[in-house]
Amino acid sequence: MVKLPKHIAIVMDGNGRWAKERGLVRMRGHKEGANAARRIINYCVEKKISSLTLWAFGIENWGRPRLEVRYLMELFYRALNNNLKAINQNKIKLQVIGRRDNLEPKLISIINKVENATRDNSGLKLNIAFNYSGKWDVLNATRQIVRANIDPDAIDENMFRSFLSLPDQVDPDLFIRTSGELRLSNFLLWQLAYTEFYFTETYWPDFDETGLEKAISEFNSRDRRFGRVK
Ligand code: FPP
Repeated sequence: MVKLPKHIAIVMDGNGRWAKERGLVRMRGHKEGANAARRIINYCVEKKISSLTLWAFGIENWGRPRLEVRYLMELFYRALNNNLKAINQNKIKLQVIGRRDNLEPKLISIINKVENATRDNSGLKLNIAFNYSGKWDVLNATRQIVRANIDPDAIDENMFRSFLSLPDQVDPDLFIRTSGELRLSNFLLWQLAYTEFYFTETYWPDFDETGLEKAISEFNSRDRRFGRVK
């Protein structure tokens, strides 16, 4: 029997190259990327996967052309604003992780609205990393710990983890990056310490249920020892 991962984390890479190969603007790649995200979310709901974390915008992505940054912000706004009903119908609990204070008020307000409206849902925990980076997460936790005047000797892994993003979810057991890039690029750093990594050449807009099943099948063949011997 196939063992399903409890938590899948994905770097949805290759939207720009997908578009370029078709002579289209990069934005078209992101639009198709959003459709691919919808397919994968539906699959995870159907298979009763516990958590799915998708990286939609990294802190370093602010360095992209202004028009593209605007487009990604707007795409995310619309994805949340237009799908709240469907998210609830599917019992999805949606959370956004990342820095929030420097986002546009309109975006902050829809994020808060969707998080509040779905907080008691019992189905898929869908985490969207937006304006996120792994180093930011660790620094943000450290700042909170210092502000709380916590005794340095009381800081252990469990307590540190409780200040990071997604403290109440199991760490990802499967990490997927599409488009052939073999990097972590400052995604979840702490949370991926013992995660199984899977890379595929497929560009994100072409990634589908079959691609995910292939990743899950490969995950099943891994011998997870967590630093111990069997
Ligand atoms: C990486 O491709 C993709 C992004 C930086 C944006 C990801 C966003 C989406 C898939 C759509 C929004 C998702 C949701 C959930 C609303 P790239 O632009 O780096 O591609 P390239 O490496 O080929 O240039």
